[in-house]
Amino acid sequence: MISVADKKIVLGVSGGIAAYKAVEICRRLMDAGAHVIPVLTKSATRFVGRATFDALASERVQMSLFDEDDPIPHTTLGQTADCVLVAPATARLIGAYAAGISSDLLTATLIATRAPVVVCPAMHTEMWEHPAVIDNIAILAERGVHIVGPESGRLAGGDEGAGRLSPPADIVAAVGRVLSEAGAEGQPMDMTGLSVVVTAGGTREPIDPVRYIGNRSSGKQGYAFAEEAVHRGARVTIVSTVERPHPPDATVVKVDTAEEMASATAMAAKEADVVIMAAAVADFRPVDPAGVKLKKRDGVPAIELEPTPDVLASLGASKPEGQTLVGFAAETCDVAGNAAAKLSGKGADYIVANDVTAESAGFAYDTNQVLVLASDGRVHPVGLRSKRQVAQAVLDLVVADRTSRADTQEKQ
Ligand code: CTP
Repeated sequence: MISVADKKIVLGVSGGIAAYKAVEICRRLMDAGAHVIPVLTKSATRFVGRATFDALASERVQMSLFDEDDPIPHTTLGQTADCVLVAPATARLIGAYAAGISSDLLTATLIATRAPVVVCPAMHTEMWEHPAVIDNIAILAERGVHIVGPESGRLAGGDEGAGRLSPPADIVAAVGRVLSEAGAEGQPMDMTGLSVVVTAGGTREPIDPVRYIGNRSSGKQGYAFAEEAVHRGARVTIVSTVERPHPPDATVVKVDTAEEMASATAMAAKEADVVIMAAAVADFRPVDPAGVKLKKRDGVPAIELEPTPDVLASLGASKPEGQTLVGFAAETCDVAGNAAAKLSGKGADYIVANDVTAESAGFAYDTNQVLVLASDGRVHPVGLRSKRQVAQAVLDLVVADRTSRADTQEKQ
């Protein structure tokens, strides 16, 4: 059970309409036994009064770098906090934090802390989708800041769209999760004993000895899955076309073509509990690659192509009992619709779908933003965050489903 009990949590509140929801977050944290110190920005007090937090929290509200009893309140707060939570986080607050600007007590505390930080953005859709905000969120996510939300829904002024603060209960649960991961032995070793196969990178289908048909996959998302799975105690095999730093405990099988990936993955998957097909496998290959380099002087070659094996579909068709199969969907339009077709068509338990044309997501970026479709019909949006955090969110689902399946089987 994840708990915030006895944890010292700095609750940062910045000035947006959702600031009133921070009152409920404060109350929920208090109910769960946390020690809550509210830090409000000046503009937050335009939306919600300090007296409310004074009455609810463990300590009185702090607002100023200079007027408090403590001569250096930001370092004291930053050094002693188990977690700094900012909810709601406005575009201004996110921008200042990403740029390292510490102009008030909350931003100074954020810069002064080494504790895990959870940022919950809330703003109008136009602001959330502004390139500056997108870049700032990507910077924070890359630095390991945990981004929770926002969700889509009703916004101030009656508008609808992305930018609504995540529900207080979800935010408190996220803080609990982050704290349990941050503890010395806190990382849940919830994949201990599991064997995981991850594929990574784009395959290369030779045209001649120097040229190939390839794609833009960097392998970063696959390696992030491998890191996260090793971190959680799994035995991991990476079947990859690219060489990247990897956890020393993982086994790496290097392949080039779809054919090689198919046979290496089929072999490794036989005994695997979880298979994650993060690789971008080419769909077509030259029927008859030239044995020598094609020469320009011989004119433009007519390259006849044939389909490659669909690795995920054949794994889905021969999936051993109890194995969890995770596929990906790289899309440029109708992400949910195309991903749903792949989910059923390929026999996967989950499809992790992303719009590869989106800003700061997909190929080569360090961040990603995905929609996870489960075979039971659930859809989980995972907002923009580091590829490691995306892996974490997907593996959370996989582990939770495997655990509840095991519990059900035990009861039968
Ligand atoms: N995949 C695979 N073998 C292939 C092609 C794809 O195993 N020959 C897997 C990918 O690793 C991914 C999933 O299938 O997990 C979906 O890949 P994607 O490229 O998005 O879709 P395709 O099946 O290739 O379909 P399309 O390119 O038409 O969207």
